[in-house]
Amino acid sequence: MSEIPVRVAVIVGSVREGRFGPVVANWLAGVADAHGGFEADVVDLAESELPLAMPAFGAAPTATVAAEVAKVAPRLEAADAFVVVTPEYNHSYPASLKNVIDWHRPEWRAKPVAFVSYGGISGGLRAVEHLRAVFAELHAVTIRESVSFHGAHTRFGDDGLPNDDAAGVAAKAMLDQLGWWARSLTEARAARPYPG
Ligand SMILES: Cc1cc2nc3c(=O)[nH]c(=O)nc-3n(C[C@H](O)[C@H](O)[C@H](O)COP(=O)(O)O)c2cc1C
Repeated sequence: MSEIPVRVAVIVGSVREGRFGPVVANWLAGVADAHGGFEADVVDLAESELPLAMPAFGAAPTATVAAEVAKVAPRLEAADAFVVVTPEYNHSYPASLKNVIDWHRPEWRAKPVAFVSYGGISGGLRAVEHLRAVFAELHAVTIRESVSFHGAHTRFGDDGLPNDDAAGVAAKAMLDQLGWWARSLTEARAARPYPG
């Protein structure tokens, strides 16, 4: 009997004009679909206009802001798992990612988060280490294996695929673990309320 697919939200963290992020995210979404057992939803933060300014504690957002929240929140809520695709900006991750993380809370709780990073010399690894600390605060489980591209612009061909096999091997290892955690945590959340 085939298992119900894991719904994975692939979050495109960069919103910069001329960004490289969609190349990496679309590749990963394709790998997840081909891996089997996943149903990928690419959540592109450039399509969202969540403001930086949040409402006061206890206050409802304005109708305009609520409409922006409604574009993203249900997709994060529906996800069993996340892959955050992040570049490295000044030894960390972009502000657009911190904003979407902070605007949401139960959407992350007791769910697994994997990372695909890219950048210059570092391959985005410092961005990932910072994200791990943030997601721990939100009761999310971060996946040990990750995929990273240093010199990302030179690592993909015009077909949008990496030039070598190493990334695909790393992505498979990451997705194997992400799928295990997603299924395990989905069952656990259904069996008993998470105490957090
Ligand atoms: C503001 C800014 C800061 C950056 N800082 C770093 C850095 O600290 N380390 C690094 O390896 N690359 C750094 N880079 C290079 C980016 O990681 C690289 O250009 C990446 O492709 C950017 O992602 P994007 O094209 O999706 O925006 C920086 C780029 C920008 C725009």
